[in-house]
Amino acid sequence: MSRKPIFAANWKMHKGPSETEDFVKSFLSKTQGKTFHAEIVIAPPFASLARLAELLHTASAGQNAHAIQIAAQNCSEYDAGAYTGEVSVLMLREFYVHYVILGHSERRSIFGETDKTINAKIHKAREANLKPIFCIGETLAEREGGNLETVLRTQITEGLRDVSEKDLAETVIAYEPVWAIGTGVTATAEQAQDAHAFVRSVIAELYGAEPAAKIRIQYGGSVKPGNAAELMACPDIDGALIGGAALEPQSFLEIIANGSATE
Ligand code: 13P
Repeated sequence: MSRKPIFAANWKMHKGPSETEDFVKSFLSKTQGKTFHAEIVIAPPFASLARLAELLHTASAGQNAHAIQIAAQNCSEYDAGAYTGEVSVLMLREFYVHYVILGHSERRSIFGETDKTINAKIHKAREANLKPIFCIGETLAEREGGNLETVLRTQITEGLRDVSEKDLAETVIAYEPVWAIGTGVTATAEQAQDAHAFVRSVIAELYGAEPAAKIRIQYGGSVKPGNAAELMACPDIDGALIGGAALEPQSFLEIIANGSATE
């Protein structure tokens, strides 16, 4: 089963509109004339979505600009109303947003998002035809305590509760071991592959073999130009969700080039 890898830059709370413009101009000049067998996505903070949409999806943006998809880093589980500080899925659609990162470990641990909230957001995203990048992953204590599989199984089962096979087909899973995020410690290719194969097996239990074979599972956690090729060569790894190393156009580009060359 050939799955197109997806490389997404999660900028977290970095880059306002002017830094977004600097990045995009530099990134586009570096990718001029190059094609990758990969999908490229940028997830800026909400405040930079309008500028990013203008840079990538207006008539004056070049062909290689149109090829880059936009993701939001979160969305509300509500449609509209008295929810101070929230952003709805329909608002995101106005900025050419096609993907939304949901369930990131920072949303879970710092902002108290539960599997139930994440599940509600996945449903809301699909109502607006946004594609969830659904993040899961264990802490070091959970891994060392022998609970890796239980934790991942619970996150997957609860997060995808009542999500149809049709909506699953529009969903990307991102396996991000919490202990590898922003720490410089990457999972070894073997650890990552084992976890990805397990995630795919849980999807097979829930949805059957074909949806499991089709779903893309990204790896996230200290992905760098130097480790991208080895990770992406693993049979169950279909791209990366990148934090720190995607803040620089050159290193984001090298990750894509190194990671998709092995396809
Ligand atoms: P780093 O690449 O900085 O480890 O962050 C990973 C991440 O959390 C992407 O969502």
